[in-house]
Amino acid sequence: MENSVPNHVGIIMDGNGRWAVKHGMIRSLGHKKGADNLKSLVQYVFTKGVKCLSVYAFSTENFKRDKEEVDYLMNLIIKFFNKEKSTFVKNKIKVLVSGSKDNLRSDVIAAIEGIEEATKDFTDKVFNVCFNYGGRLEIVDTLKKIIDKVQNNELDISSIDENLVSSYMYKDLPDLDFVIRTSGELRTSNFMLWQSSYAEYYFPETLFPDFDEKEFDIALEEYSKRKRRFGGV
Ligand code: IPE
Ligand code: IPE
Ligand code: MG
Repeated sequence: MENSVPNHVGIIMDGNGRWAVKHGMIRSLGHKKGADNLKSLVQYVFTKGVKCLSVYAFSTENFKRDKEEVDYLMNLIIKFFNKEKSTFVKNKIKVLVSGSKDNLRSDVIAAIEGIEEATKDFTDKVFNVCFNYGGRLEIVDTLKKIIDKVQNNELDISSIDENLVSSYMYKDLPDLDFVIRTSGELRTSNFMLWQSSYAEYYFPETLFPDFDEKEFDIALEEYSKRKRRFGGV
C-alpha cells in the first residue's frame, strides 16, 4: 500500500550560497532567491494536504558566518514575515518560529512576535520556521523547562514520558514524517533531532532556490513509495 501525503514535512533549505556562486552573484543574493522560492512553495505545500511544514532557515551554528551574511539573513527574515503576513492570514496559516531568542536583534524578535501573534488563532495549517535553531539546544532548553517544573512541584517525575517531552519542546508539533534536504548534502546539521526519530529522508541534488513545485511533487512521489515500519515488520 502506498503512503498517503505526509502530515508533517521538514525542509532543510540548503544550497543558496552555491546557487549564487553558480549564477555569478554574491552569496546573499542566493538567500534572497531562496526566500522568494519559499514564498510560493509554502502555499503550494499546503494545497497538497500537508498539515505542518517546518523549514530550517537559520541554525545556531550559522552565526559562524561573516557578519555581512548574518546581517543579510536577519534583515531578510524581518522582510519575509512583514511582507507575507497578510498572505498567511488570508490563507489561515499559523506561523510559529522555533529557536532561541538569545543573540537575536530586538527588531528580529519583534518581527517573530508580530507574525506569531497575527496568526495565533489558526489551527489547520502550521508553518514552523526554525530560526536561530539547534536540535541539541532545543533538547537542552526543554530539559531546563521540565526540571524547573519539577523543582517547583508543578510536575511529578513519574509523569515524564515521550509525549510530555514533545509537549515541552519549543513548539508542540507532531513528529516529522518526511525530511527533505536540498543541495545533495547527506546530513541533518542539527535539524529537529527529537521530532525526526522515524522520519523518512530525501536528499535531492537541486539547490534550494530551484526547488520548486514540480520538485516538491517528485519528493511526494518518492515518499509515497517508502515503506515505514516503525520497528515492526
Ligand atoms: C542555506 O544555504 C541557507 C542557510 C544556511 C542560511 P547555504 O547558505 O548554506 O548555501 P550553501 O550550502 O553555502 O550553498
Ligand atoms: C543547515 O545548512 C542550516 C540551514 C539550512 C539553515 P548549513 O549549510 O548551515 O549546514 P552545514 O554547515 O553544511 O552542515
Ligand atoms: Mg549550506
